[in-house]
Amino acid sequence: MERVLFITGMGCEKCEAKVKAALEAVPGVSKAVVSRVAGEAVVTYDGTATDDQLVAAVSALEHYPVSGILDGNLRPESMERITTPALAEAFIDAQVDLLRKQIGDGSVLLALSGGVDSSVVAALLIKAVGKQLTAIHVNHGLMRKGESQQVIDVFEKQLGANLIYVDATDRFLDKLAGVAEPESKRKIIGAEFIKVFDEEAAKLSGIGFLGQGTIYPDILESKDGIKAHHNVGGLPDEVKLELVEPLKLLFKDEVRTVGAALGLPDSMVNRQPFPGPGLGVRCVGAITRDRLEAVRESDAILREEFAKAGLDKKVWQYFTVVPDFKATGIKDGKRAFEWICIIRAINTRDAMSASIERLDWDFLEKVADRITHEVPGITRCVYDVTKKPTATIEYE
Ligand code: XMP
Repeated sequence: MERVLFITGMGCEKCEAKVKAALEAVPGVSKAVVSRVAGEAVVTYDGTATDDQLVAAVSALEHYPVSGILDGNLRPESMERITTPALAEAFIDAQVDLLRKQIGDGSVLLALSGGVDSSVVAALLIKAVGKQLTAIHVNHGLMRKGESQQVIDVFEKQLGANLIYVDATDRFLDKLAGVAEPESKRKIIGAEFIKVFDEEAAKLSGIGFLGQGTIYPDILESKDGIKAHHNVGGLPDEVKLELVEPLKLLFKDEVRTVGAALGLPDSMVNRQPFPGPGLGVRCVGAITRDRLEAVRESDAILREEFAKAGLDKKVWQYFTVVPDFKATGIKDGKRAFEWICIIRAINTRDAMSASIERLDWDFLEKVADRITHEVPGITRCVYDVTKKPTATIEYE
C-alpha cells in the first residue's frame, strides 16, 4: 500500500535522507521515496503502519511539518490542473526527481504501445533514468499505417531509448485466422500480447521495476470496479516487479500537455483514441491479411484527408471499417465484386454516447474517390450516420 506525505521545510539535501530514514524505521514500511523538489514522501508499507505513526515519525525530527497525508492513489484537491507548459515542466521536474529516487540504479521495463500514455511514461523515464529503461514495442500486425515505425523513429532514433522491437504480426494473424466472434478475437489478441511480452522480458535480467501508463481515470474506474487497472499483466508470479506509475494522478488532457512539454510529436501526443486490439476490431469478422490491408490503407487515406482539411483537430474519432461483405461494382471497365468500406466520424465527451460529425459532402466524395481508386479490393464507400446509442462507436 502507498501513502503520500506532504512535507514542508525540507531546505537541504540532508533532510531528505533524515526523513527517509525516519519513515523506513516505522514498522511495516518497506520503502520511502522522498523528494525535496516535489515536497513529497511516497511511503510503501504493508498495511500495518498507521497514518499517525508515519506523521509522528516525521514530526519527531521537529523541522519538517507534515502538511497532509493521502492514499497514494488519490489526487489531492490542491493539485493544480496541468494546463500550461510551465505547469508541465514543474510536474516533469518533480517526477524526474521522484523516479530517480524510486529506481536508483535499478532497471525498468515498459510495454510501449505507441499510445499517448505509454509514450509519455517512456519519455519521462528516458529523461529520468535513460538507458536503465528497456521498452518493448510489440507490433501485433494490427497497428495503423506507419505507427510502429514512428515508435522506432521517436524513441530509438531521437530519444536514444533501449528499445526492443518485436514484429509478431505472423503469430497474431495465425492465431486469429478463422476467428469471427468479436470477444474471442479480443481475448486472443490480449493473451498473445502478454505471451510475447513475457517471452521478451524473460530474456532480460536484473529488471526490478515495471513502468505503466496508468492514468487517473484508470484508478477511478478500478475503484468503481469498472475495469482492472493494470493493463499489462501476465509476468510470472515469481517475478516481483515494483510498479512505476508516474502519470497515475493525471487526467488525459494533462498527460497530453506533459507529453508536448517532453518534446513528443503532436501526432503522438494528440492521437485520437485507438482500441488496444487495433485494426483487428475494424476488420469485422474473421481477419484476413488482404482485408486487414484494406482497412489499414483506407484508414491512412482518411487520416491524411482529415489532416489536410484541419478536421483532425476538430473531430474526436474517425476511422474506416471493412466488414467481410462484398458488393458489385465496376473497376477498369469490368464487373467487380469487392468489399465495402465504411467511414465513421464521431464526436463525444466520454465515449458513453456519441454524435455524428456532419462532414462536408464534397469532402466525403473526395475521400470515397481516393479509397475506391487507391485501395485494392474496395469498390464502394458508405458513411455511417448512426449515433451511439444505438450503435457503439466501434463495430466489434
Ligand atoms: P464503443 O465501441 O464501446 O467504444 O462505443 C468506446 C470507445 O472505446 C474504444 N474501444 C476500445 N478501447 N480496447 C480499447 O482500449 C478495446 O477493446 C476497445 N473497444 C472500443 C473505442 O475506440 C471508443 O473510443
